[in-house]
Amino acid sequence: KRIAVLISGSGSNLQAIIDHQKAHADLYEIVLVISNRPNAYGLQRAQDANIPTLVVDHTEYDNRETFDQALQTAIDAQSADLVVLAGFMRILTPGFTKHYLGKMLNIHPSLLPKYTGLNTHQRALEAGDKKHGLSIHFVTPELDGGPVILQAEVDIETGETEQSLADKVHKQEHIAYPLVVQWFAEDKLFLKDNQAWLNQNCL
Ligand code: GRF
Repeated sequence: KRIAVLISGSGSNLQAIIDHQKAHADLYEIVLVISNRPNAYGLQRAQDANIPTLVVDHTEYDNRETFDQALQTAIDAQSADLVVLAGFMRILTPGFTKHYLGKMLNIHPSLLPKYTGLNTHQRALEAGDKKHGLSIHFVTPELDGGPVILQAEVDIETGETEQSLADKVHKQEHIAYPLVVQWFAEDKLFLKDNQAWLNQNCL
């Protein structure tokens, strides 16, 4: 399988997938890393792994449609089978999400459907939640709303800070995301009737 990864920042999830790919080179290849921010550290990680990179800077586009069109052209030029959003901080147009329906994954730092959008760690702390975590889902037009594939929980402990919580969630993300990418690459994971399926079992 040919995989494109979209990032906006540090790219620690990208790094986890790069490391996993090295041990599963027969299953998939990361053919392109795209960042909407020219200074994203994840670009460096990709270059260090000899993966082609591209900057599609959203500030150079008049609207979301033309920006998404540029992304789509770049992704499709590489014949990617899967688009992996790994800390990609742009809202995507319905047309773009439909084009990759069943072929695009996102990782979100909350136990969806709780806390879609931003500042999820802070919101979980403020709500006094005892559990927090991450969700990996298929991308649909609804923001952070597509069918969930896998969630991992972490405990919110006494004295927990936004930073300590973010670190805990990140640690779990780096285990969970490569695993889900692997399932997809193995043809075990798919979207059917707006539901996620793994090995013929509805998740
Ligand atoms: C992760 O916490 C992910 O859940 C969210 O953005 C963050 C990206 O971190 N969507 P990184 O760039 O992979 O380090």
